[in-house]
Amino acid sequence: MEQTTVQTNSLNKENLNILITDPVADVMLNTLKEKGFHVDYQPEISKEELMKVIENYDIIVVRSRTRVTRDIIERGKRLKIIARAGIGLDNIDTDAAQERGIKIVYAPGASTDSAVELTIGLMITGARKMYTSMTLAKSGIFKKIEGLELAGKTLGIIGFGRIGTKVGIIAKAMGMRVLAYDIMDIKDRATQLGIIPVTLEELLKQSDVISLHVTVGKNAKPILDEKAFEIMKDNVIIVNTSRAVAVDGQALLKYIKSGKVYAYAADVLWHEPPKEEWELELLKHERVTITTHIGAQTKEAQYRVAVTTTENLLNAIKELGVQF
Ligand SMILES: NC(=O)c1ccc[n+]([C@@H]2O[C@H](COP(=O)([O-])OP(=O)(O)OC[C@H]3O[C@@H](n4cnc5c(N)ncnc54)[C@H](O)[C@@H]3O)[C@@H](O)[C@H]2O)c1
Repeated sequence: MEQTTVQTNSLNKENLNILITDPVADVMLNTLKEKGFHVDYQPEISKEELMKVIENYDIIVVRSRTRVTRDIIERGKRLKIIARAGIGLDNIDTDAAQERGIKIVYAPGASTDSAVELTIGLMITGARKMYTSMTLAKSGIFKKIEGLELAGKTLGIIGFGRIGTKVGIIAKAMGMRVLAYDIMDIKDRATQLGIIPVTLEELLKQSDVISLHVTVGKNAKPILDEKAFEIMKDNVIIVNTSRAVAVDGQALLKYIKSGKVYAYAADVLWHEPPKEEWELELLKHERVTITTHIGAQTKEAQYRVAVTTTENLLNAIKELGVQF
């Protein structure tokens, strides 16, 4: 479809309308107001109401609740910027925005440290069966549970970006041998960090622990599919704080049940909340630990997300030629 350029003539601070449709941190709201922008804060607006009012706004600011779908973008004739106070764009129709020449700003990387720390926590939880042990302790049963040690084991990182790289550095400090695979050329960067770049097949064959840190679309084909499970080592621990679709859930259930997969520890599900029968069965399995997508949910990460998104939004407003 042909790209149409947004009209930016005669835009100024007084006639630029900003609509915030999800709860955002005070720092964002206050900064926009202090700069003198006209901001409507409607953190619980329904889709129907949004459809009615969107044509009055130049900028929409969302977190994860509001879905900025094609119909909203098409109805929003004045829209010039979509700001997502977050690290991903899953809830925005980026194709529809691009076709209209609407700029999207967000805060990739703002929650990297929080996601890295959760990943290491999940890795240890899986290896030491901490969830089972804690559940027993809480029910008054003080029984010893044997797990696995991570030092001396091989960790395979799939997706050697911001989070994957930091997880690798920490794992090395824990005494692990670290392999990494990415679709990009990571050879020099990995080698400099003492991390071994490998093919996916080598990683699957050699790893005692596999940790996924890929950016993949909602409909991507799983990286850990039936064939991948077949060539993995026995007793492999799998950690996933990236996207559930990177793993074939039904194949995972099969290999968890057979005992080949020692533990699966993840922060993401195929459906959040879960709905498929196989997904619920997997979730209930004692060697499966799932957290409720809390990778970015720390005070520090949420503050950085708000500050970075606000800075990026203000820069985008300046690019429209608006003085403030
Ligand atoms: N659980 C959470 O709350 C939480 C928090 C932060 C990030 N995340 C997710 O973690 C993932 C990684 O984030 P990041 O900031 O490190 O991203 P990033 O873009 O820095 O790194 C992702 C890496 O994955 C690689 N990649 C993409 N497809 C691949 C494939 N098929 N095989 C191998 N490598 C592939 C890319 O080349 C890139 O190097 C993302 O999916 C992100 O959404 C989740």
